[in-house]
Amino acid sequence: MRQIWILDFGSQYTQLITRKSRDLGFSSQIFTLDEILSLFREGKKPACLVLSGGPQSVFEDKTDYSILFSDPKLPILGVCYGMQLLGNFFNGVVEKGVIGEYGHAIIEYQNKKLNVWMSHSDHVKVVPADFHVVAKSHNQLVAAIQHKTRPILGLQFHPEVDHTEGGRDILESFYKNIAGLKTDWSAKSMLKEGEEFVANARGKKILCAFSGGVDSLVAATLTHKILGSDMFCFFVDNGLLRPQDLHHIKLLKEKMPLNIEIIDAKEIFLGNLAGLKDPEEKRKCIGKTFIEVFEKKVHEFEKNHGIKFEYLLQGTLYPDVIESSSPHKVGGKSVTIKSHHNVGGLPERMNLKLLEPLRMLFKDEVRALGLELGLHPDWVYRHPFPGPGIGVRVLGELFPESIRKVQESDQILFEELKTHHLYSAIWQAFTVLLPVKTVGVKGDGRAYEEVICVRMVNSSDGMTAEWSEVPASFLRLVSNRITNEVKGITRVVYDITSKPPGTIEWE
Ligand code: XMP
Repeated sequence: MRQIWILDFGSQYTQLITRKSRDLGFSSQIFTLDEILSLFREGKKPACLVLSGGPQSVFEDKTDYSILFSDPKLPILGVCYGMQLLGNFFNGVVEKGVIGEYGHAIIEYQNKKLNVWMSHSDHVKVVPADFHVVAKSHNQLVAAIQHKTRPILGLQFHPEVDHTEGGRDILESFYKNIAGLKTDWSAKSMLKEGEEFVANARGKKILCAFSGGVDSLVAATLTHKILGSDMFCFFVDNGLLRPQDLHHIKLLKEKMPLNIEIIDAKEIFLGNLAGLKDPEEKRKCIGKTFIEVFEKKVHEFEKNHGIKFEYLLQGTLYPDVIESSSPHKVGGKSVTIKSHHNVGGLPERMNLKLLEPLRMLFKDEVRALGLELGLHPDWVYRHPFPGPGIGVRVLGELFPESIRKVQESDQILFEELKTHHLYSAIWQAFTVLLPVKTVGVKGDGRAYEEVICVRMVNSSDGMTAEWSEVPASFLRLVSNRITNEVKGITRVVYDITSKPPGTIEWE
């Protein structure tokens, strides 16, 4: 169990509290209210409790929180809604929002003026008798309170958000000086925990749907370290890969002892996709074909080798786990923007148990763990590549010629990003084929050919993204090379759309 438990009241920043705490070296984990209450009722407790922000108001919240506050020694940090809850519970007065503070506010905290990030309408009007005011905002609203005798701090602003000046120091000082915590989180501790987790599947055969991306590579390397040759990785070549992906897989097969089997299913995929134009239909077809090919090959393999797989190894990360248990989701339905094709449905269909050693980690932690496992930095810092690959980067119907145009243009972009040392400064970069014809001049003749769009974005998790501001000279070079070297392309455009409203991929 992690030493810091973060009670998620549904703020969009709850994940950030967890990330920042771990970044500071303190293990932390998010729980829903029901989970925390039942753990406390079972007599379990963290070394420190954090109450997150959230959209609700203490006036509507009828929960009995007394069990959380019954131990006078338990350090508690209340952030935003968490602070209002403290104010209310300890008999102060919370006032219903009249003016509210959203965005930047200036507070005076420990004799320093700090620019902080606020997002609240209710506020603590009268501070409980056992607390004193630590900070007020420029609007004269209470911005921070501290218990006079117990290790409890309430912050109306968000220390976890980058816009909050000194936020990291405030969190660190709370954990170290008020809560008295010792650091316990590092790449080494992640590795130890991961090894213990994987060891539970000892003696069983493990199947990994391997993509060569960071998550599956780290999960497989960790599992191999503990279970050795009981794990087998299957990689499906769907014909929608870029040259760099094939090269990467071949390199991994050669260099890593991961039992990598490459299944050549190019023709099956392209045959099934023929005639499909709609993005969702294409995605569904790719997903369905993947499962069919994978299942068939694995059964053949089991038969030939006289083994039976019991576990499916997956590189599921913490944001996906939190997402599926978030209070936002309770009773609500999320709209399908795009159906992500990974291995959904496989475990049930093949009667496999799931092994998800990365399910408590964020992407940057998976990278740190990969380095700790001795993986090459180039492998650990690879850009993400979607399961349906070029299938969603040729708009509309897929033809071998259109796939070739994306493969060649993408290779040029990749080479130039590496040569100009821009690859690692960009979160994801790729080319898309727009199936429209435009007029151009090539040599002395008229050309009437298709368009390649270059997409480069910066992001931290793919949920939101900004287009990357690369030098114009770089764009000019890439454009020149693509129009000169890729047959059938006369025009290159650069996508300057953020997410939202655009998504990162075009389909
Ligand atoms: P979007 O296009 O939704 O993409 O803004 C966000 C991130 O997810 C990747 N992506 C996928 N990854 N299977 C995947 O494994 C998919 O079907 C898929 N679709 C999008 C995308 O490349 C970006 O990194």
